[in-house]
Amino acid sequence: MKLKMNNIHKFYGEGENRVEVLSGINCEVNDGEICVLLGPSGSGKSTLLNIIGGIDSADEGYIDIGEDCTSNMTEKQLTLYRRNHLGFVFQFYNLIPNLTVKENIEVCSYLSKNPLEINELLQTLGLYEHKDKLPSQLSGGQQQRCAIGRALVKNPSILLCDEPTGALDYHTSKEILALIELVNKKYQNTIIIVTHNDAIKNMANRVLKLRDGQIVKNYVNETTISAKDLEW
Ligand SMILES: Nc1ncnc2c1ncn2[C@@H]1O[C@H](COP(=O)(O)OP(=O)(O)O)[C@@H](O)[C@H]1O
Ligand SMILES: [Mg+2]
Repeated sequence: MKLKMNNIHKFYGEGENRVEVLSGINCEVNDGEICVLLGPSGSGKSTLLNIIGGIDSADEGYIDIGEDCTSNMTEKQLTLYRRNHLGFVFQFYNLIPNLTVKENIEVCSYLSKNPLEINELLQTLGLYEHKDKLPSQLSGGQQQRCAIGRALVKNPSILLCDEPTGALDYHTSKEILALIELVNKKYQNTIIIVTHNDAIKNMANRVLKLRDGQIVKNYVNETTISAKDLEW
């Protein structure tokens, strides 16, 4: 679904400690795009992603996703907005330790009216043979695959990934990015990948660059490089 950020401002702190972390973000991400959001540490990437995801609120401005708009939403409407539209993937997988791979994914499928078929999803994730294992029995890459499955199973229109390869080695990072590419093709979700790794921009349809709370670049790549061919 099309995503639109409208004049997003965010402040932290009080009085003379008050700082503007996002200073009027305006941009659009088209339906089905892979968008890479780049920027140095502290530039406001996670804050923006959390506002898009409705887990943090803007002090000014609002988000449109399809027909839905976050301005003046009640808590209940915001919960439905998150549930219907968004899947989250974080740097540190945040899986439930005493549930198996399949159960970790299943828990989220109950939130959806039209969840993806779990066994097929497990195949896509490359986790079918590991479906009965606990997170502690998996490698970091496998745990991240499971976390991607958990975010995807409710078939969200937008998948938000905050430093999804931040805790992974070079080869595993590329495998995870290739998986993100695959699910974008297969399920056609709009995907936003937050990273400070510049090389990842080459796999994106759209690149946004954030500096000190402002978008300093917003462009569409004419050609993209597939994740498996990225180098850094
Ligand atoms: N809860 C918070 N309270 C105060 N300052 C915060 C909070 N969260 C983030 N910040 C500040 O906002 C800025 C942007 O943070 P963040 O969005 O996490 O950046 P990034 O993800 O690009 O590293 C940083 O200067 C950070 O210290
Ligand atoms: Mg961050």
